[in-house]
Amino acid sequence: MALIDWKDDFSVNIKSIDQQHIMLVALINDLHSAMKLGKGKEAIITVVHELLEYTKVHFSHEEQLMKNNSYPGYIDHKAKHDALVNQVVDIDNNLKSGKVVISQDVLNFLKKWLVEHIIETDKKYTTFLNNKGIK
Ligand SMILES: [Fe+2]
Repeated sequence: MALIDWKDDFSVNIKSIDQQHIMLVALINDLHSAMKLGKGKEAIITVVHELLEYTKVHFSHEEQLMKNNSYPGYIDHKAKHDALVNQVVDIDNNLKSGKVVISQDVLNFLKKWLVEHIIETDKKYTTFLNNKGIK
C-alpha cells in the first residue's frame, strides 16, 4: 500500500503544478517502498536526493508563476518553501551522518510536509492564479 494516495482534494487546479505534486507524492512513496523493502543507506539517500532536487525544481516553478503574476502572498509562500527545503536538507544530512535512519516517523513527517503545504498554502493561490488565466 502506498503511503500517500493522490486525492482530487489535493488539486490546486493548475495542471503543471498538479503534475509536479503527483511526482513529489511518487517520490515519497518510492522512499516508503525502499524503506519497506529494507534497501540500504545508499539507496535511501539516492531517493532523498531525488526528492530534494525535484522539490527545488518544483518550488522554483511555483515561485516563478506567483512572481510573474504579482501574487500578493509570494513573500510568505517563498519563506515557507525555503523552510521546507531546509527540512529535507536536514533529513539528508542526518541520514548521511548516520544520526538518523529512515523510519516510519521520517516518512510520516514527509507525508505531512507535502500534504499540509499543498492544502494549507498552495491552494490559497488557486483562485488568484486561475483568474489570471493560469490553469
Ligand atoms: Fe508551494
